[in-house]
Amino acid sequence: MTKSPIKPFYFDVTEEEIDFFAEASKTVLKSGRLILGENTAEFEKAFAEYVGVKHAIAVNTGSSGLEIILRLKKAEGTTVLVPTNTNFATVAAVLRVGGVVQYLDMDENTFAPSLQMVKDAVEKGSNPAISGVLWVHIGGVISPEFPEIVQYCHDHGLFVLEDTAHAHGSQINGVQAGNLGDGAAFSFFPTKIMTTFEGGMITLNDDEEDYIARSLRNQGKRGMDFGGLHTDFGNSTRISEVHAVLGRIQLAKLPQMIARRQRCYELITAPLREAGIKFVSTDHMDHASQYKLMILLPEGKTAKEVKAALAEEDIFLGGTVYEIPCHLQPVFEGVCKGESFPNAEYWCPRHICPPLTSGMTDEEAKIVGDALVRHL
Ligand SMILES: Cc1ncc(COP(=O)(O)O)c(C=O)c1O
Repeated sequence: MTKSPIKPFYFDVTEEEIDFFAEASKTVLKSGRLILGENTAEFEKAFAEYVGVKHAIAVNTGSSGLEIILRLKKAEGTTVLVPTNTNFATVAAVLRVGGVVQYLDMDENTFAPSLQMVKDAVEKGSNPAISGVLWVHIGGVISPEFPEIVQYCHDHGLFVLEDTAHAHGSQINGVQAGNLGDGAAFSFFPTKIMTTFEGGMITLNDDEEDYIARSLRNQGKRGMDFGGLHTDFGNSTRISEVHAVLGRIQLAKLPQMIARRQRCYELITAPLREAGIKFVSTDHMDHASQYKLMILLPEGKTAKEVKAALAEEDIFLGGTVYEIPCHLQPVFEGVCKGESFPNAEYWCPRHICPPLTSGMTDEEAKIVGDALVRHL
């Protein structure tokens, strides 16, 4: 038995940061400027610099960010390719903007679709015509094929949007997630790499799209924070100044939190490599957020029994990514009806994600790695 439970989630905040948050929030309250003030502006500026993009637009959730970037690409009335192995929000965003979803299956090496899957879908075509792809860097892993996928899509006149909800700080070939395609949406939901309680951030490089995205998050008001002229069919998806304060605090320590996760990933995976247990590797990336470590279950093992055995040792596993692919979710019953996506159907229920947080010690990471080898 380990000394204290090893948990799947950790809110990384120090006493000093709590004091700073309290003081800064007091200043917000006293100022009376509760939204779209200097904290939001500073958070956006720092986030854009971090990702290496020209513009970052803060929103109230990752979900609203996805909707806005799809609207920027005029996805309404078109078909958008989306991996079935993703969160509800990715598929829902396409449907909410009036698009049609065509699912893509996943490759077990990346848990994302392969280049060949994208090519097959594009060559097959769709009615209405395919306008682009809403890609997901599952678990923060950027597929080694992703740069080629972007190139292929652009060569065929298709956009590539990134759902970067898991991929804060992930980087490949010198470019960060959020700057690899034609627009991206991050999530700051509490269990993500960094949080703002709830929140999200759009990143993009086009000046006109920045202008429209700011309008879409603010009831369609173009070029103004306040006022009564509504030009675009937007929504109220701003964040508050207090959310932005937490965002600034979390962003400042993001590299440190990711470095800690990376260290734990290395310690957990070292015994897995030795034992020949298969997991989704990030070795090909410059940096990985290490949001989730996806371990493929050997034949004959079930997620339920492995989780229960680990819980006996005080190691508690959180959710996987994802246990149920979107095409099998009741809410999306009518989407791609009758089609099957065999890799996702096989691997979604047959993988586990061990605890991997910035709150783990080296010792805990080693305990997790050793326990996994014993139970797999
Ligand atoms: C892949 C993915 N996309 C989008 C979202 C939506 O983010 P949010 O909860 O901030 O709306 C999530 C998380 O919930 C997610 O995991």
